[in-house]
Amino acid sequence: MRLIFLGPPGVGKGTQAQKLAETASIQKISTGDILRDAVSRKTDLGLKAKQFMDAGQLVPDEVVIGLIRERLSSPDCDGGFVLDGFPRTVPQAEALGRLLEERESPIQRVISLEVSEHELVRRITGRRSCPECKRVYHIDYQPPKQSGACDSCGAKLIQRDDDREETVRKRLGVYHKQTAPLVEYYSARSLLARVDGLGSVEEVFGRLKAAVS
Ligand code: AP5
Repeated sequence: MRLIFLGPPGVGKGTQAQKLAETASIQKISTGDILRDAVSRKTDLGLKAKQFMDAGQLVPDEVVIGLIRERLSSPDCDGGFVLDGFPRTVPQAEALGRLLEERESPIQRVISLEVSEHELVRRITGRRSCPECKRVYHIDYQPPKQSGACDSCGAKLIQRDDDREETVRKRLGVYHKQTAPLVEYYSARSLLARVDGLGSVEEVFGRLKAAVS
């Protein structure tokens, strides 16, 4: 199974990708998680990426394409993967297409998750994340069992630096300008399935599984 999850910030890509990866035993590959990990370790990549991420802008294409090229060459991806947050621009989609063509293992389905902008802002501003195992919670919709601590590993939950409302608005603008054209890009290649992202996590997951199969 080789999939892409497309959609605006906060729509639930990471939440659904995590569930699908666990259910189908495939790799979840999130460029956002890879970049945040580099930022927290203060690597050269992290220092470069941080200024773009904090400003709600995309990290330059050549940087993320290099990251994905390296990640997909790992043997654990041979059994399948779901890409969460990549590609985000047409040049990224074209680079991914060439990379997978070389390996004769093309993308099989692109899921476009969709909810209203009002709901996106609500989901993002209430999000809390585990800095260790990357699990995602929501203070109202998906609270952890013990307030402020990750159910899975017990680490202290944090709010992402780019989840402030002003930065969220910028990220949404960037999505509409640079990423939304990918809906048409993959639709024209008969790979796109639109999935309504409104409803409980389980309800959305049911729709998503139907769209994938
Ligand atoms: P990234 O981490 O990819 O952020 P994003 O795409 O903006 O998406 P989010 O992680 O904000 O949301 P999500 O759709 O995964 O939602 P989630 O499941 O968490 O990227 C961050 C930054 O990194 C970018 O701005 C950019 O700078 C850089 N970057 C990353 N990839 C890049 C690339 N390819 N090119 C260039 N730059 C790149 O859910 C959100 C909340 O809602 C959670 O609290 C969750 O609990 C809750 N929730 C989920 N589902 C439901 C539901 N059904 N009902 C109620 N609540 C729900």
